[in-house]
Amino acid sequence: MTDGLKPEDLEPDAKLVEKEFFEWQKRFQAVFNPDREKLVDSLKAQWERASLLHSAEAALSELKIEHNRLLGKKSALSGLKKKIGFVNPTYKSVVGQRVQTLERNIKAAIILAEDRLKHFIAELSTERESIDVTMPGRRPRPGHLHPITLMRERIEDIFVSLGYAVEDDREIETDFYNFDALNIPEGHPARDPQDTFYTTDGFALRSQTSTVQIHAMQRRGAPIRMIAPGRVFRRDTPDPTHNPMFFQVEGLCVDRGITMAHLKGTLAEFVHRLFGPETRTRFRPSYFPFTEPSAEVDYSCFNCGGKGCRICKGSGWIELGGSGMVHPNVLRAANVNPEEFTGFAFGLGIDRTCARIYQLDS
Ligand code: DAH
Repeated sequence: MTDGLKPEDLEPDAKLVEKEFFEWQKRFQAVFNPDREKLVDSLKAQWERASLLHSAEAALSELKIEHNRLLGKKSALSGLKKKIGFVNPTYKSVVGQRVQTLERNIKAAIILAEDRLKHFIAELSTERESIDVTMPGRRPRPGHLHPITLMRERIEDIFVSLGYAVEDDREIETDFYNFDALNIPEGHPARDPQDTFYTTDGFALRSQTSTVQIHAMQRRGAPIRMIAPGRVFRRDTPDPTHNPMFFQVEGLCVDRGITMAHLKGTLAEFVHRLFGPETRTRFRPSYFPFTEPSAEVDYSCFNCGGKGCRICKGSGWIELGGSGMVHPNVLRAANVNPEEFTGFAFGLGIDRTCARIYQLDS
């Protein structure tokens, strides 16, 4: 090889470099063709542009590998360049120029590709991050608290302002709290209408919030003023006026010298605040094992003022709940001395009052 290599000897290598380069360009164009670029301006779905951004980013990192493959130490170009040393001096400049041009073209193409990709990515991500101020705002979600919750909160507010504490107690009870301590011994007929759900290990779902009277007095003693809103359970078949689960508010006030007058005054104030100052109350003698005497409380209809309408079913009165003077046996069961303390209690159903106030039909 004394003459050295001639240009035609190197031409197959140069063709190989060119071939690789063209193939790369074709592949690059496929990933990043001008049609796709137009998508940036179009109103195509966002996910489409998101996937475009994704492939542009992938193409950019692939470009670094390609850069090395086309121009690196192990590239066809580098092999070609090494052979220049063996070229016959006569042809050296011609061959050298050919190789140089090849290299320049490849480098320029790669830099251009890189620029275009970077620009494209920047554009896509700015677009993704930008806020369209002309877009309609997000509507606040329509919704509100459950009517029973609203009702419970109104009741709580009134009694809290009268100095009552709000007690939240357990829904699963023993017979003692649900019945015995409330002066309803085993076999007492008052247990029947309050038949509830039992667990296999002797517990029961409370059938009345009156249970909280006992817990609260045991915990805090007397004097005490508290209300206890909460769920109660009865073994009832659901119909428009019955439900196996409903809500009550229990009230209890125990102190020295508490009389029926305090009970009447308190509930009168309560209905004034809930339904308006013109509302009247009516106490009908009744029977509850845990109060003596006992009374059923009605209030004059908030809709017709007592004349009689659809809401009060023509009577002019609506039932509020049960009440009475706490039975000495109940005080005793809760370790409060009935010689020193007296008290009143009441129990109101939340659901029915709520349905009436918000005029919900069955
Ligand atoms: N616990 C009774 C019921 O479930 C309601 C009741 C009546 C509660 C009279 C009382 C009361 O505190 O004094 O029907």
